Amino acid sequence: MTLLSHASAKASHYDYGAEKYDAFNEKNSKQTNQTIENILKKYKVKTVLDLTCGTGSQVFWLAKRKYDVTGSDINANMLKVAKSKARAEKLDVKFLEGDMRTIQVGKFDAAITIFNAVGHLTKLDFEMAMRNIHNNLNEDGLYIFDIFNLSYLMKDNNITKLTIDWQTVTGDAKIRTIQYSTIDNDGILASHTTSYSQKGASLQKKAMGAQTLQTYSTKQLKEMLHRNGFKVLGQCGIDGLKFSESKSERIVMIAKKR
Ligand SMILES: C[S@@+](CC[C@H](N)C(=O)[O-])C[C@H]1O[C@@H](n2cnc3c(N)ncnc32)[C@H](O)[C@@H]1O
Repeated sequence: MTLLSHASAKASHYDYGAEKYDAFNEKNSKQTNQTIENILKKYKVKTVLDLTCGTGSQVFWLAKRKYDVTGSDINANMLKVAKSKARAEKLDVKFLEGDMRTIQVGKFDAAITIFNAVGHLTKLDFEMAMRNIHNNLNEDGLYIFDIFNLSYLMKDNNITKLTIDWQTVTGDAKIRTIQYSTIDNDGILASHTTSYSQKGASLQKKAMGAQTLQTYSTKQLKEMLHRNGFKVLGQCGIDGLKFSESKSERIVMIAKKR
């Protein structure tokens, strides 16, 4: 049972987590990025707009593999980290600040929003984002995204498999993050997080927070994509393998502009 109501995330949502984001997430992103790259390769995509680029995980992966990629995100702090990584790696990548529901960048062969990013939106706002993404695509352009699979999370006790207890050390800072999640019949996933951080010999700091994400079944996604000008080409798991409604934790959707 979820006690939190779901609203689209504010631009500031990742303000606090931006600096620590890569320490926890980058090591898990290789498989995801490989799956996205394989799809782009299959459809002979050359230009990519990443509308929820965050600190640039997919942007850098694709730029290093010679895709012409532009990153945009609503959170200025995540973009700051992405830009400093681009400078450090001497990669000439364009980053823009903007909302996936409204930003107009140009016309691309493909648009992506990866790592459950669209879960930050309400269903209505996701449909608004779909229409905006449609406007940023070339004729026949692709929209590729991933999102938690509602059917899987509602089955058995699969929701408990999202429980995490991560520890990491960066420089002289130790961070531990513990998170458990619940899900309700509307597909609202609520995650409750407690973080402990300690820098050098200083006192340990404790922070607690909660966030919600909207999750979907493939049937819901297909209906929404169809309503907003897309034809669904297929779906797979985040590992790139065949999608299973009851076994895949995340859905990777591949849709084409109609
Ligand atoms: C889980 S992170 C994923 C970042 C990156 N794709 C990755 O794989 O690491 C989700 C990102 O979506 C962004 N985001 C949330 N709502 C957004 C919106 N309305 N428009 C653009 N970006 C948004 C957040 O700021 C955050 O950077």
